[in-house]
Amino acid sequence: MALFQIFAAIQLLLAIGVAGAKQVALNSHTRSILTALICFKVHIVYMGETGGIHPDVLVSTHHDMLASAMGSVDIAKETILYSYRHGFNGFAAPLSKRQAEQISNMPGVISVFPSSRRRLHTTRSWEFLGLTGDSADAATGSPATSGENIWQRAKFGRDIIIGLLDTGIWPESQSFDDDLLSEIPSKWKGECEDGDHFNASSCNKKLIGARFYLKGYENFYGKLNLTATEDFRSARDKDGHGTHTASTAGGSFVPGANVFGFANGTAKGGAPLARIAMYKVCWPIPSGSLSGQDSCFDEDMLAALDQGIKDGVDIFSISIGSGNPQPAYLEDSIAIGAFHAIKRNILVSCSAGNSGPTSATVANVSPWILTVAASSLDRDFPSNVVLGDGTTLQGKSIAPKSLSESNWYELIDGGRAGNSSVPVANASQCLPDTLDASKVAGKVVICLRGLGTRVGKSQEAIRAGAAGFILGNSAAQANEVSVDAYMLPGTAINADNANAVLTYINSTNFPLVKIVPARTVLDFKPAPSMAAFSSQGPNSLNPDILKPDISAPGLNILAAWTEANSPTKLPIDNRIVKYNIISGTSMSCPHVAGTAALLRAIYPSWSPAAIKSALMTTASIVNNLQQPILNGSGATANPFNFGGGEMNPEAAADPGLVYDTSPRDYLLFLCSVGYNSSTIQNVTDTANFTCPNTLSSIADMNYPSVAVANLTAAKTIQRTVTNVGSQDTAVYIASFQAPDGIDIVITPNKLTFQSLGEKKSFNITLTPTKRSKGDYVFGTYQWSDGMHVVRSPIAVRTTS
Ligand SMILES: *[C@@H]1O[C@H](CO)[C@@H](O)[C@H](O)[C@H]1NC(C)=O
Ligand SMILES: *[C@@H]1O[C@H](CO)[C@@H](O)[C@H](O)[C@H]1NC(C)=O
Ligand SMILES: *[C@@H]1O[C@H](CO)[C@@H](O)[C@H](O)[C@H]1NC(C)=O
Ligand SMILES: *[C@@H]1O[C@H](CO)[C@@H](O)[C@H](O)[C@H]1NC(C)=O
Ligand SMILES: *[C@@H]1O[C@H](CO)[C@@H](O)[C@H](O)[C@H]1NC(C)=O
Ligand SMILES: *[C@@H]1O[C@H](CO)[C@@H](O)[C@H](O)[C@H]1NC(C)=O
Ligand SMILES: *[C@@H]1O[C@H](CO)[C@@H](O)[C@H](O)[C@H]1NC(C)=O
Ligand SMILES: *[C@@H]1O[C@H](CO)[C@@H](O)[C@H](O)[C@H]1NC(C)=O
Ligand SMILES: *[C@@H]1O[C@H](CO)[C@@H](O)[C@H](O)[C@H]1NC(C)=O
Ligand SMILES: *[C@@H]1O[C@H](CO)[C@@H](O)[C@H](O)[C@H]1NC(C)=O
Ligand SMILES: *[C@@H]1O[C@H](CO)[C@@H](O)[C@H](O)[C@H]1NC(C)=O
Ligand SMILES: *[C@@H]1O[C@H](CO)[C@@H](O)[C@H](O)[C@H]1NC(C)=O
Repeated sequence: MALFQIFAAIQLLLAIGVAGAKQVALNSHTRSILTALICFKVHIVYMGETGGIHPDVLVSTHHDMLASAMGSVDIAKETILYSYRHGFNGFAAPLSKRQAEQISNMPGVISVFPSSRRRLHTTRSWEFLGLTGDSADAATGSPATSGENIWQRAKFGRDIIIGLLDTGIWPESQSFDDDLLSEIPSKWKGECEDGDHFNASSCNKKLIGARFYLKGYENFYGKLNLTATEDFRSARDKDGHGTHTASTAGGSFVPGANVFGFANGTAKGGAPLARIAMYKVCWPIPSGSLSGQDSCFDEDMLAALDQGIKDGVDIFSISIGSGNPQPAYLEDSIAIGAFHAIKRNILVSCSAGNSGPTSATVANVSPWILTVAASSLDRDFPSNVVLGDGTTLQGKSIAPKSLSESNWYELIDGGRAGNSSVPVANASQCLPDTLDASKVAGKVVICLRGLGTRVGKSQEAIRAGAAGFILGNSAAQANEVSVDAYMLPGTAINADNANAVLTYINSTNFPLVKIVPARTVLDFKPAPSMAAFSSQGPNSLNPDILKPDISAPGLNILAAWTEANSPTKLPIDNRIVKYNIISGTSMSCPHVAGTAALLRAIYPSWSPAAIKSALMTTASIVNNLQQPILNGSGATANPFNFGGGEMNPEAAADPGLVYDTSPRDYLLFLCSVGYNSSTIQNVTDTANFTCPNTLSSIADMNYPSVAVANLTAAKTIQRTVTNVGSQDTAVYIASFQAPDGIDIVITPNKLTFQSLGEKKSFNITLTPTKRSKGDYVFGTYQWSDGMHVVRSPIAVRTTS
C-alpha cells in the first residue's frame, strides 16, 4: 500500500473519531477493513442528468461534495468508488449514516441510498417464435422490401449494438464468430478492457465491447479471490450465465449446436448479426462461490450503465433484479440507469424475476423498462418413468447417461432413506448429507423440490451411491419441469406425477422403476405455457401500471456456455460443454432484447416506448393448439403471468398502431407517484418542468396495457395511439372482452387516420356492475383495421 493511502486511511479514521486508528490502518486492505470496522456502507448519491457539464468537472464536484462530508479532498479521492458522469450524474462511496444524511441535503442531490446486492434472475426458441432463416440468408442480406421477414427487413440487426449487464462472456464461443460481419458501426465508442485472460484481441466485429466492474463487490467482500472463485478479473465469464444471455440476444448462426446431443440445431440470437457489448457486473459470493449464486452490486451496475450509454449501446439487456420490497424508482440502480438510457432512445429489457407463482413478486417494474416473464417452447425432452405396476408417468431430462432399459431398479423415496439423525423433510428433498448410503446405493431415489438446488439434489443422490435419480416437483412448481444435465441417469417429473410415485411407493413392499432414456422431441403441444417460476403481477410499487409487460421463452433454453464451468456448475462436475440448457426469466429477457434490436434496425426513429408497444400489442394470448395460454398448473394464464402475451416478432414488426410515451410522460408519472417538481427538475435537465396542479391518474399514462387496482365507481382512462401502419389512411374499430363484472365503453369506438404518424385519442370507461371479492379480473380490448390487431390487456380490481 502506498504511504499516501495509509495516510488517507488514518485521516479517515481520525475524521470520524475511531480509536486504534494506526493499528488498523497499518493492515492491508485498507478500504475493506475500514468499511467493515466502522460500519460504513457504500451509498449511491444520485444527482440526475449531467446537464451537459464536462465529465471532469463533474468528477471534481463529486470530490468536493465528498470532501465536505469527510473533511479532506484526499480522503474523498481515496474512498470514492465511482463517479457517474456520462449517462447521468452521481457517485458511489462508503459513507456513514451521518455523512449520507449530510450529503443528501446538498444542492442537486436527488437520492442517497445504500447499495444492495441484486441477483441474477438460456435454439429452437426462434423457430418457435416464427423466425426462420439461416446464415446463408444473413450472408446475402438483400435490401428490405415488404415481402421479407423481420430478419431480412432488419438486416439481421447488423447495425445494432446490444449491451448486456451480466457475468461476462466466453469470447471464443462460436456464437460470437464475426464471419458475416462488416466493420463496427462508427458511432461505437466502447472498448475491450484488458484483464485476466482477456485483452483487445478477445474482441472482434461481433463482440465489440467488454468491460468489468467490481469496485462495489470488492469493497464489500474484499479482493476477488481468483483461487477460491476460479473467476477472472476481466470480462471473461466463469459462471456461464452471461455467455448464455449474450448469445440468445445476438449470437451468430452455429449449426449443430447441442448439449450432449440434446436440442441439436442451429443456435442463433434474436438479432444474429447484432454487435454485443458485455459489461460484467456480477461476481461470485466468496463462500460457496461455486454454487452459482452471483451478486451484482448497485454501484457496479450503475457504472456499467453510465459507461454503456456513452459507449453507444442501442439496447440494454439486464437479467438482474431485486427481491421484494422493490426499491423506490429513484433509489433503484436499474431504474435510474434505464431512465437515462431511454432518454437517449436506448431500450432497456429486464427480467421479471423467478419468484413466481407467488403474486406481486414481479421485479423491474418501472414504466420505462420492458419487463419480461418466462414461458415454455414446443421442444420437449421426454424421459418417462415406468413404475413396477406398469404405470407410465411423463418425465423430462437431458441426462446424458441412462439406466439399462431392460432392467427394473429398486425405487426409494429420499424421505425413507434419510440418515437417522436427519428430519424426513430434509431427506425427502435430498439436501446435502441427508441420505443414508446403505439405503440408497444401487437404487433409484426420488427427491422433492423445495429447498436446495435441483442439481444439488442430484449430487446428494450420487454421494449416496444411487443408480438413478428422479426429481419431483412440489406443488409450488406444479407443471414447470426444468431439465438439467445430471451426472447420473435421471429424470424430472411434475407435482402430480411426483405424488403418484410416492403413492405407488406406499402401496407396495417392493417398489420398482425404469427410466426411459431422454431424447429431444419437437412440436410439443400445448406451447407456450407459463413457467411457474416466472414472477407475477400485480406491480407492488404502482399496481396501476400492469407488470410484467410480455413473455418470451425462458424454460429449457439452449445457448452458448462458458468453458470455465461445467453444465451443472457443481464442483464435482468436470464436464465441459459449448452449449447448455438453462431456465429463468434471465433467458427470456435477452429474447426480447434481441427482437427489440431488430425493431430498432427497422424503425430507427421509434422511441423505446413505441418498440415496447409494438411488442406488447402484437403478443399472442393463445398457444399452438389455438387455445388460451396456460399457467404453470394448467389453468388459463392471465396478464399477471404474461402482460400482453407471448412475444410474436413477425407481428411486432408491423403493429399498425403504437402507444407512444415521451420522457415527459415519465416525469408526469413521477409527479403522480409523489415526487415534487424540484426533485424532478434535478432528475432531468428541464429546469422549467413543473408538476401539474392536478396530478394525472397513473392509470392515464399512455401505456399499452390498462390496470386499475381500486375501481370503486365508473372510471375513464385516456389513451393515445399513433398510426404507424403501411398506409396513410386507416380506419380502426374498437372491440373488447370485458373482465367479469366490468362494463366497458370505448369512445370514440372508431378512429380514422389520414396520415402516417397521426395521433388519435380515445377514452376507455370501466364501470363495476357487481360486488367483487376483491380479486383481480382480466380482459382485453383491441383496435383493428382488418389487417392489424392492436391488443391491450386489462387488469381490474373492484373495491367497495
Ligand atoms: C435541485 O437542484 C438545485 C440546484 O442544484 C437545488 O437548489 C435544489 O435544492 C435541488 N432540489 C432538490 C429537491 O434536491
Ligand atoms: C492477448 O491475449 C492473447 C491470447 O490470450 C495473447 O496471445 C496475446 O499475446 C495477448 N495480447 C496482449 C497485447 O497482451
Ligand atoms: C483465496 O482462497 C484460497 C482457497 O480457498 C485460500 O486458501 C486463500 O487463503 C484465499 N486468499 C485470500 C487472500 O483470502
Ligand atoms: C446435429 O445435427 C446436424 C445437422 O442435422 C448433424 O450433422 C449432427 O450429426 C447432429 N449432431 C448430433 C450430436 O446429433
Ligand atoms: C434441515 O434443513 C433445514 C433447511 O435447510 C436446515 O436449516 C436444518 O438444519 C436441517 N436439519 C438437519 C438436521 O439437517
Ligand atoms: C449421518 O449424518 C452425520 C452427520 O452428517 C454423519 O456424521 C453420519 O456419518 C451419517 N450417518 C450415516 C449412516 O450416513
Ligand atoms: C406415504 O406414506 C407416508 C408414511 O406413511 C406418508 O407420510 C405419506 O403421506 C404417504 N404419501 C403418499 C403420497 O401417499
Ligand atoms: C394457475 O391459476 C390457478 C387459477 O387462477 C391458480 O390457482 C394456480 O395457483 C395457478 N398456478 C400457477 C403455477 O401459477
Ligand atoms: C421536494 O422533495 C424533496 C425530497 O423529498 C425535499 O427535500 C424538498 O424540500 C421538496 N421541495 C419542495 C419545493 O417541496
Ligand atoms: C422548457 O424550455 C424549453 C426551452 O426553452 C422549451 O422547449 C420547453 O417546451 C419548455 N418546457 C416546458 C415544460 O415548459
Ligand atoms: C387501493 O386501496 C387499498 C385499500 O384501501 C389501499 O391500501 C391502496 O393504496 C390503494 N391502491 C391504489 C393504487 O390506489
Ligand atoms: C376523454 O375524457 C375526458 C374527460 O374525462 C375528456 O376531457 C376528453 O375529451 C375525452 N376524450 C375523448 C377522446 O373523448
